[in-house]
Amino acid sequence: MAKMLYPFLIVVALALVGYAGGSLPALQVVFGIIIPYIAMAAFVAGFAYRMLGWVRSPVPFRITTTAGQQRSLPWIKANNLEAPANKLGVLGRMALEVLLFRSLFRNTSAGLRGKRLLFGEEKLLWAGGLLFHYSFLVIILRHTRFFLDPVPFFVPWLQAVDGFFQVGVPAMYITTATILVALLFLFARRVVMPQIRYISLPADYFPLFLILGIGTTGVLMRHFFRVDIEAVKELALSLVVLQPRIPANVGPLFFAHLALVSSLLVYFPLSKLMHMGGIFLSPTRNLTNDNRRRRHVNPWNYPVPTHSYAEWQEEFKEKLEMAGIPLDEDLDHKPEMAAARGGHA
Ligand code: HEM
Repeated sequence: MAKMLYPFLIVVALALVGYAGGSLPALQVVFGIIIPYIAMAAFVAGFAYRMLGWVRSPVPFRITTTAGQQRSLPWIKANNLEAPANKLGVLGRMALEVLLFRSLFRNTSAGLRGKRLLFGEEKLLWAGGLLFHYSFLVIILRHTRFFLDPVPFFVPWLQAVDGFFQVGVPAMYITTATILVALLFLFARRVVMPQIRYISLPADYFPLFLILGIGTTGVLMRHFFRVDIEAVKELALSLVVLQPRIPANVGPLFFAHLALVSSLLVYFPLSKLMHMGGIFLSPTRNLTNDNRRRRHVNPWNYPVPTHSYAEWQEEFKEKLEMAGIPLDEDLDHKPEMAAARGGHA
């Protein structure tokens, strides 16, 4: 229970602190300007740091997965998506992973039926994950209307499609509902399924609650306690052009929203959310599976002093002959063969 409760309380506290800070004019500069700037800097620097760590990690050998037949002999049918033999295949595999979460689509779940262990398809996690991520993406794209002037061409189009059902005034966006539903599903899954509950940690609940908090404060702003959108846009634009100023009438609820967003930005590079960048550097996804056709030499192999049998025989030749031990006549080319095998005898 504590695994869930503490993250929840932290998120509530963050929102309340943001709200309180936004209610006091003297603190609005802190919560509207200083903290968002620090958070953004922490996000960019932290993200870059984590990515550089992965970029620098050596991957001396191809890590292949066994999901498909690697290209080998011409008469064996190869699967260029599962075991890409060229960069185009890698691009296809990566695109399907990033855009459609393909490996998650193949997720299976194990369960007991009577005394039998059965493996079944598990598509709900895939569907919930996809729904959450795409809703998030659309919301971020829609939000660019606050940060950019003129508003990007796709925003009115997205708003029209997203607000298609015209439920409520102002219209409730489809993605506002779907992100909340998806987040609640992802949370429920961790609570309801005993195995998942067992392995879930505060670090799994915290981002769920945090993003739920951002969504909830967003909904409250749009549908229940209106904030002055013009003032929000003025503040957001002033932050972007590095001439920050706090307009009057922004409303404390916006500061709660912003405090949670700032927390997410700081937390992001420290957390599992880095899978967003890490996926691109994942060796099982981004390397061609060509280790049967191309020789990959470990780049940090260093010459190892060896003493081959041929050299040993040469050294003790006379003694061997004196002792009547037969010499191996055919050894001349053996050191070369060893060298060809990888530098070591
Ligand atoms: C992680 C980033 C963010 C997420 C996930 C998020 C999420 C949301 C959601 C779900 C809503 C409800 C209505 C809608 O879907 O548009 C909303 C509304 C809103 N958000 Fe955000 N938000 C984020 C960042 C920001 C930032 C940085 C600002 C600062 C400008 C902001 C300002 C607003 C405002 C002013 C509304 C009310 C919109 C309206 O009344 O039409 N949000 N947000």
